[in-house]
Amino acid sequence: MNKLAAQAKWDQIYQNSTCSEVADVLRENEFLLPEKGLALDLACGLGANAVFLAEKGLETHAWDISSVAIEKLKKNAEIKCLNISAKQHYIDFKNLPKNAFDVIVLSHFLDRSLCNAIMDSLKPDGLLFYQTYVREKLDSVGPKNPDFLLGRNELLMLFSPLTVVVYRENSLVGQLDYGERNEALYIGQKC
Ligand SMILES: C[S@@+](CC[C@H](N)C(=O)[O-])C[C@H]1O[C@@H](n2cnc3c(N)ncnc32)[C@H](O)[C@@H]1O
Repeated sequence: MNKLAAQAKWDQIYQNSTCSEVADVLRENEFLLPEKGLALDLACGLGANAVFLAEKGLETHAWDISSVAIEKLKKNAEIKCLNISAKQHYIDFKNLPKNAFDVIVLSHFLDRSLCNAIMDSLKPDGLLFYQTYVREKLDSVGPKNPDFLLGRNELLMLFSPLTVVVYRENSLVGQLDYGERNEALYIGQKC
């Protein structure tokens, strides 16, 4: 899908959408965040992660291809008196700044061609918080196209130059009537 078609698709989705949730990987591990520094919510959508990061005192940037989502995030930030630099931005591996961020968060977005650029965009000691859907999921949530779903342990492989801080992928192990099964959660640190 080209850039314009992707923007049109996501703009359409966000026209009627107001709900965005903080990713578990961030909410459950907020104690790992630095007290200050520069954070980026990449492919932020309506920006619940960005709001969370800004509320924790981080100088927060939020980028997404959808101008509709970015406008909604800007309004939300204004209401909450949060200083979030939200920008409509088409992300590819050529336009991520190097050594720029102390924290990068990605949730429910997977473009494997960006992984090296994402790691390059972290400052030394910077943390990557990543959470998205796996192929072996129990429910019909998330994309259907397997290209946008993670294989087993895939985040560990994609970001192998980073030091693993947290990893959870419950997959289809044990009692399937409970437990979060649909997503992998990863935190890695650039050393
Ligand atoms: C499933 S949504 C996830 C949004 C948010 N991270 C969340 O978890 O609620 C995927 C997001 O990726 C954005 N996106 C897709 N391709 C993009 C690209 N090349 N550059 C920037 N944003 C992109 C879409 O606009 C959409 O907001």
